[in-house]
Amino acid sequence: MNVRGAVRPPGDKSISHRALMLAALARGTSEITGLLTGEDVKSTARVLRQLGADISAIGAGTVTVRGSRLSSPASRLHCGNSGTTARLLLGMLAGQRFPATLTGDASLRRRPMRRVTEPLRAMGARIDDTHGDALPLTIHGGRLHALTYTTPVASAQVKSALLLAGLTGKVPVNVREPYLSRDHTERLLLHLGLDLRYENGAVSLQPSAVRLPAFQLSVPGDASSAAFLIAAAVLAEGGELVIENVGVNPTRTGFLVVLERMGAQVERVNLRDAGGEPVADLIARPSAALRGTDVSAAEVPTLVDEVPILAVLASRAAGETTFREVGELRVKESNRLELIAANLRAVGIDANARGNDLHVQGTTRPPRGRVETARDHRLAMAFAVLGTIPGADVQLSERASVAISYPRFFSDLRRIGEERRGKGRT
Ligand code: S3P
Repeated sequence: MNVRGAVRPPGDKSISHRALMLAALARGTSEITGLLTGEDVKSTARVLRQLGADISAIGAGTVTVRGSRLSSPASRLHCGNSGTTARLLLGMLAGQRFPATLTGDASLRRRPMRRVTEPLRAMGARIDDTHGDALPLTIHGGRLHALTYTTPVASAQVKSALLLAGLTGKVPVNVREPYLSRDHTERLLLHLGLDLRYENGAVSLQPSAVRLPAFQLSVPGDASSAAFLIAAAVLAEGGELVIENVGVNPTRTGFLVVLERMGAQVERVNLRDAGGEPVADLIARPSAALRGTDVSAAEVPTLVDEVPILAVLASRAAGETTFREVGELRVKESNRLELIAANLRAVGIDANARGNDLHVQGTTRPPRGRVETARDHRLAMAFAVLGTIPGADVQLSERASVAISYPRFFSDLRRIGEERRGKGRT
């Protein structure tokens, strides 16, 4: 296909969760524009309402949040499919003096929570250990004490949970991680005037005695959602696509770095700032000669959600691409590591997971076959993009999961391709 025109990805999922959570804790009414309207963010809004925050409907336009001191929920806090909701919430609740039970859908109930509960217990939180620390999980909170902690995995969800525990429990927290993960929580806390510092590769928060101030925030477009549009443009036969208002925080742009190494150029224009986050418009063009590459373990946190779409791009590149140390993908919304490889094979591409590495062999043959998304939004979107190349016939087991992070994905994908046939924007 050819691509043309301009498209705006939905609001950043990670920043949307954090904006709602911090606004729910703040004194006064916050106003958030550009918030993601996806299901994961609705899960966060729903559980925060159960805890006493007054949040307007999540839809187009400004969302207002009247903060409150958190109070005991009348029923279980259902986090849906959202790992970020569950893990960050555990941090927020760790220092509270009431019990709350968190649960989630079948996928979330399989995901590891010990990475968060263990350091929270070390801070003094009381958490029932009924299902080996998987959800459902009851947290009673407790009087917290200061924490200095090195996380075994580079996880922004773990780091953020601990910072939120420090914030609400009013104790200092110092977190070091093996590689820097996305730093949206840190940036937002700094933007709100908190005493947060980077010291010898660790982040430390000295919480303030007073409540957070209410704030106004414009959420940038999600770099992870933009990645699918960029990939569609890179794999296109002709044209040019402008992707507007994309967050380009360096902890999230590993996709662009790897793409460049593979031989595709994405231009960044109109660089600006939104609430402490760098934002740009991106211009993506087709690239006929992609080449395989090696993605290192250090790069993985900066592109952790982009491995499915990078693997799809790798399947069209000359030679082999290797993703090193991507074992974390086994515990995402699905077992992404196995499913990326199995689905690539299902459409005729040589791919396999060996240990914690993923290997993809590029080909020029059109992909044909049926893909099992396991209701994982990023698998659905990645393989939908693979289905846009000439001669492809890729059938997805379902498409509804895109509502998690990019509700308009299929209409945007159709529109950027339709425009090439001169139909104009819809
Ligand atoms: C996220 C962190 C990452 C990422 C997830 C969102 C966040 O998870 O995969 O989609 O908002 O903090 P991990 O912290 O498990 O790496």
